[in-house]
Amino acid sequence: MAQVRICFVCLGNICRSPTAEGVMLKLVRDAALAERFVIDSAGTGAYHTGERADPRSREEALSRGVELPSIARQFVEEDFDRFDYVIAMDRQNRRGLQALARTQADHAKIHLLRSFDRAADGIDVPDPYHGGPKGFARVFDICEAGCRALLAQVRATRGW
Ligand code: 4NP
Repeated sequence: MAQVRICFVCLGNICRSPTAEGVMLKLVRDAALAERFVIDSAGTGAYHTGERADPRSREEALSRGVELPSIARQFVEEDFDRFDYVIAMDRQNRRGLQALARTQADHAKIHLLRSFDRAADGIDVPDPYHGGPKGFARVFDICEAGCRALLAQVRATRGW
C-alpha cells in the first residue's frame, strides 16, 4: 500500500513542528488511517538535536489529549526523498527548506501549514519559544486547524 509521507518543519523542532506531528498522528489514528501515513518532524536548525519537545508544548498538547513523541533532529536534503509533503511552519522555515531543495520536485513538496486552512487569519505559525503559555495554546489551535485541513486535502486527493 502506498503511504503518504509528511514531514513538519520548524526552526528548533521542539515546539511547533512536534505539535503539528502529534496532532496529525492523533487525527489519522482517530480516522483509522494511521497505516496509510508516515508522519515525522524536523528543524532547519540543529540547536536542539536529540531533545524531546519543549515541556510547555508537551503540557499544552497533553491537556488536549495529544502526546508529542518527537526527538529533535535537523532536516537534511535527503529528507526530500523520504517525504511527499514537507510542511513549513513559517516563511523563514520555508526559506531554509528552499535553500536545501535540489530539484523542482523537491521545491514542489514544500508548503506552508496554514496555506491549507482557508479560515486562517495569518500566514505563519508564530514562534512561541520566548513567549508565555498563551502562545503555546495558540500554536496548538493553529496546528490543529492546519492539520485538519491538510488531512482533508490528502483524503480528497486520494479518494479516501
Ligand atoms: P520551534 O521553536 O522552531 O517551534 O521549535 C523554537 C525553539 C528554539 C529556538 C527557536 C525556536 N531557539 O532559538 O533555540
